[in-house]
Amino acid sequence: MRITIFGTGYVGLVTGACFAEVGNDVICVDVDADKIAALNRGEIPIYEPGLEGMVVRNREAGRLRFTTDADTAVHHGQFQFIAVGTPPDEDGSADLRHVLTVADTIATWMEDDKVIVDKSTVPVGTADRVRETVERRLAERGVAVRYAVVSNPEFLKEGAAVEDFMKPERVIVGCDDAVAREKLHALYAPFNRNHDRLISMDVRSAELTKYAANAMLATKISFMNELANIADRVGADIERVRIGIGSDPRIGYHFIYPGAGYGGSCFPKDVQALARTAHDVDYVPQLLQAVEEVNDRQKHYVFNRIRDHYAGALSGKRFALWGLSFKPNTDDMREAASRRLMESLWEAGAMVQAFDPKAMPETRRLYGDRSALTLCDSPEAALADADALIVMTEWNLFRSPDFELVRERLSAPVIFDGRNLYDPAILAGLGFHYYAIGRPP
Ligand code: UGA
Repeated sequence: MRITIFGTGYVGLVTGACFAEVGNDVICVDVDADKIAALNRGEIPIYEPGLEGMVVRNREAGRLRFTTDADTAVHHGQFQFIAVGTPPDEDGSADLRHVLTVADTIATWMEDDKVIVDKSTVPVGTADRVRETVERRLAERGVAVRYAVVSNPEFLKEGAAVEDFMKPERVIVGCDDAVAREKLHALYAPFNRNHDRLISMDVRSAELTKYAANAMLATKISFMNELANIADRVGADIERVRIGIGSDPRIGYHFIYPGAGYGGSCFPKDVQALARTAHDVDYVPQLLQAVEEVNDRQKHYVFNRIRDHYAGALSGKRFALWGLSFKPNTDDMREAASRRLMESLWEAGAMVQAFDPKAMPETRRLYGDRSALTLCDSPEAALADADALIVMTEWNLFRSPDFELVRERLSAPVIFDGRNLYDPAILAGLGFHYYAIGRPP
């Protein structure tokens, strides 16, 4: 099948590569000429396991092309995917400018029947706005073609995006047009394992499903972070509590890890956007507001621990920091807890010696060369003469360090762990002051 994808960010690029992988003929289009030129040289702008090989392989096979030429791209695809960004507006609502510009571009060039698919995370009602935009442009051109607008939100996780797309738990298709629904069914057939993964529903429910999923996951995290704060004060161990409650299948073990607050490009933005949608229809979303507030507070947790340990005297202190990305297996630092932490440390006059397996170039891009930040070549190098070690991302590499070496390299045996990676009893036995989240020392 012939597919056009607008937007070559995480969602667009992964979608394009994966559709090409199963034999479709895909054109990805973006307004960013530099990005398209780089992709045409086989350079992938993001780190995502498995993506580079897939892009290169399918590009060489001629099934995956990259262009800035919207005219050619629109003519190419029976399916026109909209996978452009929806950044938060000043009031937290999703900014639909890019989505509607793409809708207008599609309508400017389309000459035959198309299925227009919203893959970006967009508020309820966006498909209607896309349809209005297309309608307006077609009327202006005096062109009559059959088209449908479908909501097909994406549920991939960064760091596992290719795997999630190739083996989806579900494919949500929101569609009021039976013919378009059948076409989507055929398009996604290669991704069905064992049973049909496609769940079809009306457009508005599909749009809300995407926000509901992310808001539910964010709620689980904020709930656990709240419990961790209570555990601290009552002398309980949140890790024992986590295991205790996870054994109930109605609760489950997934996504109940307390930490330094959720980050990334989705949860913070989507919880806010859903709350905004609720306000717009005169509903006060008390739970969503609390989820966001708890997360904001949690982003200060590790810093507060550090400040209290040194009784506020942080000026001139030097900290080894392991992990900069918002989670492992990505170089993405959007809303990463490490950023709030570093900024607070710098403000207090401390210095940071950081290491991350993938996010160092992004850190350099964000913070440039500043004297209070040293980017180190290895986790061990970051430890040199530091007053303490701070762990902010649970990369596998940090899970089982040589603690003797850590103690030797640090000027004092102190660890602040924002991801609960280590066993407090073992670290106490090795002579460390070990601070975790919601665990007694
Ligand atoms: C999230 C969702 O998990 C995907 O299903 C969704 O498709 C995606 O957003 C999206 O809307 O595009 P992602 O942002 O890549 O995916 O990352 P997650 O793995 O969900 O992690 C988000 C944050 O929550 C991270 O900062 C992570 O450290 C934190 N987290 C996660 C916890 O603090 N505790 C947990 O138990 C799980």
